[in-house]
Amino acid sequence: MPVTAVVGLQWGDEAKGKIVDLLTDQHDVVVRYLGGNNAGHTVMFGGETYKLSLLPSGILRKGVTNVVATGVVINPQAFLDEMTALTERGVEIGELLISDRAHVIFPHHMAEEAVLEESRGDDAIGTTMRGIGTCYRDKIGRTHAIRMGDLYRPDFFHQRLTDVIAQKNTILSAVNPKFEPLEPDAIFAEYTGYAERLRPHVCDTTAYLHKALKSGKSMLFEGAQGSLLDIDHGTFPYVTSSNSSGCGIHVGSGVPERAIDRMIGVVKAYTTRVGGGPCPTELDDETGLHIRDEGNEYGTVTGRPRRCGWFDAVATGYGARVSGVDCLAVMLLDVLSKLDEVKICEAYEIDGERTTDFPSHAADLAKAKPIYRTLPGWKTDITGVRELSDLPKEARAYIDAIAELIDFPVEIVSVGPDREQTMFT
Ligand code: IMP
Repeated sequence: MPVTAVVGLQWGDEAKGKIVDLLTDQHDVVVRYLGGNNAGHTVMFGGETYKLSLLPSGILRKGVTNVVATGVVINPQAFLDEMTALTERGVEIGELLISDRAHVIFPHHMAEEAVLEESRGDDAIGTTMRGIGTCYRDKIGRTHAIRMGDLYRPDFFHQRLTDVIAQKNTILSAVNPKFEPLEPDAIFAEYTGYAERLRPHVCDTTAYLHKALKSGKSMLFEGAQGSLLDIDHGTFPYVTSSNSSGCGIHVGSGVPERAIDRMIGVVKAYTTRVGGGPCPTELDDETGLHIRDEGNEYGTVTGRPRRCGWFDAVATGYGARVSGVDCLAVMLLDVLSKLDEVKICEAYEIDGERTTDFPSHAADLAKAKPIYRTLPGWKTDITGVRELSDLPKEARAYIDAIAELIDFPVEIVSVGPDREQTMFT
């Protein structure tokens, strides 16, 4: 049975949710393996729009087991709120498993992030303020970390929380004299309450996934964020704090990468980015605003307007190679339909030199001048097209140019939010 992975190749928001949703009914198990409630997935299902953040997209399908694996950082309150919101809309939550190894986000993580981001001024990373980076930092630092499994060991949890919060209070008060110290006993009681409600879901998901693989179950790995936001391989420091490229699947789930049969790299037909950091093809003009309006480019989680620009084949090609994709899904092609001409960045000029290598340093990326290939626009509404061969020849030429420059085949093209508006080669 197939094991499929869907990963974003740009700076997130590539409309992965739609591809995952299309594939869920062909898979028994859907796995989230990184990030937390910083992610936002919009899924249209049964004529309704659902905005998911922490829960895997398979949650909307009956009979699918949804796994929130070890690499995810969990805000239990956000998790429960999302479950409640779905239940209130009539979604029946089936088998939903949460890793007992996953790390937990606490109020001090949000407080720390607010102080740190504010102190960076114009250099702020532009995070989602969900305590993601600060929770991952404590995970790597180990001494201040608390995992889901710890919540069920009251003596250990209470002692650890008391120690951690005492230290966090000291540090945060030193950086911000107006900081109101946090109360460990109140947080202990609050989180013990969440833990009780989540108890039926918490287990060793790695063991579950290994058994599921052995018994031949099909599995779908649902990426969050995008390859260029990867902590190791992305545009550091303007990245998220986990391995959001394909590299994160093994680390975040415990399932080895060689178990994956097909890795689909999802790209938008143009570029968007939220938060800080260089973005060479960003358009600070009417075309950029046009793309934002046509594509409704506003953050699912924070509502922030996204920075928009032309498709960047240097950045996306790098994302594709790092993630190790087999093919590409090009999303939101219809957003470009009204433009007279469309451009693809095929190389950068940095300090007078032409390169197709993606720079490792943000300062070099900030200097990169895009070198564009300009193609004629198709100036036709393509939202009703259902076969790739029926696309206007200019739109097909645009897709072919993406495939040529990224050097992976385009196997899926999407021209609208509905399931039917998806074409396969
Ligand atoms: P954090 O993940 O909240 O720490 O934010 C770090 C960077 O990743 C910021 O630039 C965010 O805007 C970006 N980011 C985090 N999650 C997403 C996402 O789901 N889509 C796009 N950008 C994201």
